[in-house]
Amino acid sequence: MLKVLAIETSCDETSVSVVSNSADIYKIHSNIVASQIEDHSKWGGVVPELAARKHLELIPFVLEQALEESKISIEEIDFIAATVTPGLVGCLRVGSITARSLCSLYSKPFLGIHHLEGHLSSILFAKNYPKPPFLTLLVSGGHTELIKVGERREMQRLGRSYDDAAGEAFDKVGRLLGLSYPGGPAIAKIAKKGNASKFNLPKCKISDKEGGFLKYDFSFSGLKTAVLRLVEKINLNGDEIPIPDIAASFERVVAEVLVERTIKCAIDNGLDNIVVVGGVAANDTLRKMMIREAYKKSINVHLAPINLCTDNAAMIGAAALFRLKFKAHESSLELGISGRLPIDKAKTLYEKKPPF
Ligand code: KG4
Ligand code: ZN
Repeated sequence: MLKVLAIETSCDETSVSVVSNSADIYKIHSNIVASQIEDHSKWGGVVPELAARKHLELIPFVLEQALEESKISIEEIDFIAATVTPGLVGCLRVGSITARSLCSLYSKPFLGIHHLEGHLSSILFAKNYPKPPFLTLLVSGGHTELIKVGERREMQRLGRSYDDAAGEAFDKVGRLLGLSYPGGPAIAKIAKKGNASKFNLPKCKISDKEGGFLKYDFSFSGLKTAVLRLVEKINLNGDEIPIPDIAASFERVVAEVLVERTIKCAIDNGLDNIVVVGGVAANDTLRKMMIREAYKKSINVHLAPINLCTDNAAMIGAAALFRLKFKAHESSLELGISGRLPIDKAKTLYEKKPPF
């Protein structure tokens, strides 16, 4: 059994987890997530400098609690992992320095993890995770990507958002409707009371050079503007804003766009398993619609466990364990952090000469 202590601090959750695997069974011994939502909500979004400071304040307590709850001592840990990219640099630095200091202190090997590979690995905790190759829809606050995942975690991006990520659109529309931060869960909650067919909002597409459209790519900023115009028009008429109806119509159109393009991409690429991960994967409308529509095309859908959709360190630990399964070199202790790195470059984190 391999045991990993994992740290995630790429955005506004300070999280530490102890996970293990043996014979392809992934187990969470502890997964402490200290959310900073309350600290950022009065600003309507994450304030990077404040988030970094909060991580620094919280990390010793979260680390202590994670080890205590796991009933595994740090001496018994085999590897220490931390998210090193992509994310807010000041935030990433806190987790990465903590992990590397622990590695030096306790003579443990270090693994730097790509945050999106972490999200992808949350599926390892689902009851039946599919054999590769499969198509992953990764929908979070920072990313909307369609990634083909191969046998040895080769990753090929087949689609992406050209502007806002789906979660970002939820957050911006939530703010526009005067809902609490983050917008995703707030919209999902109020949408339950609304009529999803009330408003016809646009399914924005990206044009290609030949006068057609990119089939697997996304754009959500036009949709956000359409909601803004709708609210302005209703305001101008002096009518009350039907928040539940707008929220439900917006949530429906986002789910439709994600489901339609994901299924099209899976069919065109001969993939009969779809994996859905990331914060927005917690959305019930999206989960149900994806299962229903994929079933019609004989495609299996695998959804990340709801409690592991938003940022957490257990998924980072699972990504580390998966890398170790394929004998990835440990990362150099010289490995730093970076705000950006495409997911198909994740393997460079294990090279002797680190990419950053
Ligand atoms: O994966 P995540 O925790 O952080 C990033 O890596 O970005 O995702 C956070 C995003 C936020 O934009 C939040 O509004 C969205 O996930 N989210 C949801 C739901 N829960 C979280 N969006 C829609 N419906 C939800 N239930
Ligand atoms: Zn994330």
